[in-house]
Amino acid sequence: MEVVPLGSADEIAATAADVFEAVVRRNSAAVLGLATGSTPLPTYRELIRRHQAGVGPSYRGVTCFNLDEYVGLPTGHEQSYRATIARELTDGLGIGADRVNGPDPSPDGLPTAGARYEALIQAAGGIDVQLLGIGADGHLAFNEPGSSLASRTRIKTLTAQTRKDNARFFSSLDEVPTHVLTQGLGTILAARHLVFIAVEESKADAVAAAVEGPVSASCPASVLQLHPHVTVLLDPAAASRLERLDYYREVYAAKPAWQGL
Ligand code: F6R
Repeated sequence: MEVVPLGSADEIAATAADVFEAVVRRNSAAVLGLATGSTPLPTYRELIRRHQAGVGPSYRGVTCFNLDEYVGLPTGHEQSYRATIARELTDGLGIGADRVNGPDPSPDGLPTAGARYEALIQAAGGIDVQLLGIGADGHLAFNEPGSSLASRTRIKTLTAQTRKDNARFFSSLDEVPTHVLTQGLGTILAARHLVFIAVEESKADAVAAAVEGPVSASCPASVLQLHPHVTVLLDPAAASRLERLDYYREVYAAKPAWQGL
């Protein structure tokens, strides 16, 4: 795990955008893993800004996989993760809807939705780079505390806290779905490179537990410690409870330029 303490959310956005662009420049048919929530938005805006300014790569050949999806929203609901990713990222990058995949929340297909999504990811050759945020309770995608570290895509029940946290996207708490389809922790571990980003003090305890705590289902994001290539991008507030913060700074400052992220 490479922990990179950065100065601001803007610096995180620029660094994460560099990583995604480098993957697409190396392979124009790259497979990108996308997250929703507030944390990735500055990164998405930066990718779109560069692309539209003509300095970013072409995304015509890429395929995308969303991390998760609400269950129970009407098709096309503006807060569905399919609609959110189109609005916040893929439309702006010129990636057609047919190249953006998400778990299928249609009621009749729920029993097989997880296995079908896993098969789609596998058929695409696996995910090259996966963007991730973290919940204040340590959830990764929507694997809430207690989720199996080996889990695959499946239906999960959101905790009361996560529904409350996400209520800001809806007109009332009652409208926030209780269930989601989410990539499992084992699914996430199978991606080739994980870019994990966190900002603000509200995430500081969860970040410390994920990065420096024991690997445990009680903090699902601690599973990242088992992955061979994780880049952790943090603003000062999110990094503030890390015990080895000075060491991470020292390592990053001395990082050889040839190594990249
Ligand atoms: C979103 C997701 C969630 C969020 C997490 C943090 O696809 O899987 O794990 O990353 O809930 O959300 P924000 O960024 O809104 O604080």
